[in-house]
Amino acid sequence: MGEMIRFLLDGQAHEVRGANPTTTLLEHLRGPMRRTGIKEGCAEGDCGSCTVLVGEEEGNGIAWRAVNSCIQFLPMLHGKALMTVESLASDGALHPVQQAMVDKHGSQCGFCTPGIVMSLYARAVGAKGASAPVGEVLAGNLCRCTGYGPIIEVAQTVAVEAAPTVDLSVVRDETMLALSYDDEIHAVTRRWFSPRTVDELADVYAAHSDATIVAGATDVGLWVTKLRKPLPTLISISEVAELRALEETADGLRIGAGVRYVDAIAAVAALYPDLGRMMRRLGSTQVRNSGTIGGNIANGSPIGDMPPALIAAGATLVLRLGDDRREMALEDFFLDYGKQDRRPGEFVEAVIVPAPAADRIFKVFKLSKRFDQDISAVCGAFSLAIEAGVVTDARIAFGGMAGTPKRAKACEAALVGQAWSEATVEAAMAALDTDYAPMSDMRASAAYRSLAARNMLRKVFLESADSAVETRVVPESAHG
Ligand SMILES: Cc1cc2nc3c(=O)[nH]c(=O)nc-3n(C[C@H](O)[C@H](O)[C@H](O)COP(=O)(O)OP(=O)(O)OC[C@H]3O[C@@H](n4cnc5c(N)ncnc54)[C@H](O)[C@@H]3O)c2cc1C
Ligand code: FES
Ligand code: FES
Repeated sequence: MGEMIRFLLDGQAHEVRGANPTTTLLEHLRGPMRRTGIKEGCAEGDCGSCTVLVGEEEGNGIAWRAVNSCIQFLPMLHGKALMTVESLASDGALHPVQQAMVDKHGSQCGFCTPGIVMSLYARAVGAKGASAPVGEVLAGNLCRCTGYGPIIEVAQTVAVEAAPTVDLSVVRDETMLALSYDDEIHAVTRRWFSPRTVDELADVYAAHSDATIVAGATDVGLWVTKLRKPLPTLISISEVAELRALEETADGLRIGAGVRYVDAIAAVAALYPDLGRMMRRLGSTQVRNSGTIGGNIANGSPIGDMPPALIAAGATLVLRLGDDRREMALEDFFLDYGKQDRRPGEFVEAVIVPAPAADRIFKVFKLSKRFDQDISAVCGAFSLAIEAGVVTDARIAFGGMAGTPKRAKACEAALVGQAWSEATVEAAMAALDTDYAPMSDMRASAAYRSLAARNMLRKVFLESADSAVETRVVPESAHG
């Protein structure tokens, strides 16, 4: 009982016993289940050829999400419903999305095709994150040979249909207990805890502070598939209801650490439209359907996109260890490369994002080689108060410029108290050399990063000056 994972596949309850918790969903589907429609292209969430749909209870219904099965651990499926490309055809007839792919010549070698079909099916049934423009929906599905023209045509011809409804009670009920935190999976050497409340999470993590927390696994999944890192004990936070809550308060937002990007974008965009636009470029639909803002912060990567933006916004972090909670400015969390201010057994509970003061300029620029689905070389975030032509306050932070996401204090100092003018901006651009000594790597050289950071500040100035110069790859008017 304690080792059982149970999920619904095409209406049938499916049970797995004694699985190694870091088995990926892709491995299980292509291996024991012989569902070989989906493919392993990259095993790192990039290509989308492994896309499946996962359904879970939300409100009174079932919410479906396209996810990359290559970086989902099998126990994450417990109590949920699954659809693979094999689920679509019925009585031997192809689903309209599949038929349209044939009719419009949307496939050549076919390696990407099952994943593309699943993403387009997700769009047809109004799955999460899939009501966006088709380019955004397909940003996480790479095709090397067909070209996207016919595939986009397929998207435009397929009719919208009702999402499948399923009864998850058969796989939830008693079996949910199977993974609860006081009933561990004793797989050979590994354990998987799935606490249901934040108090349970605090207890289990305090008792197993060497465990790895798993939220959406869009980072942790790669530690297994790419780094082959042994993860002896894992604690999943995705069933912790409190961590999945996003509260809109009078002062801004309280975003639980388990809130996925897809569920946060609208609320964040309502306060910070430019941050909302940036989030729609972070990863892909599949990545945003699993990944969390809490995971992006806790991971502590110097090139994570949310920390610079949230630091500029003045966000604070709520951390919890046992019954003890503490709050800190987000910028203070990042101590050094790979080192965050987090004690053993302490986890991120929430991030608090204040609403911006009226008339404050807030801009975020994500610079990456590809527009979508690419890690930033530099991410710059700017929050400026300008009164009567004078800069009265500045919060500026960058990712990709240092070993941590970091504020540009010298640049800020060069702006505050000065006229918001080209001369001031030039001086503040030069001050960035005091703030940062970036490194060269495969994403960009140090010189490129420094110049890009400077030019981002110039871009803020140009945009604030209502310049006729188009500064965006996708004009702001093209966004919803
Ligand atoms: C294809 C692809 C594209 C990507 N593109 C981008 C991008 O454009 N920009 C970007 O910034 N990132 C990108 N990422 C990285 C990743 O998606 C993000 O960092 C994401 O926010 C991680 O969230 P998660 O829930 O998946 O975290 P997980 O992978 O589950 O966890 C990440 C880390 O945080 C820890 N953790 C998670 N939650 C908590 C918590 N509550 N308390 C304490 N520790 C916790 C975990 O132990 C782990 O160390 C991409 C990833 C992939 C696979
Ligand atoms: S195999 Fe490439 S995204 Fe999963
Ligand atoms: S049809 Fe070959 S990769 Fe898309």
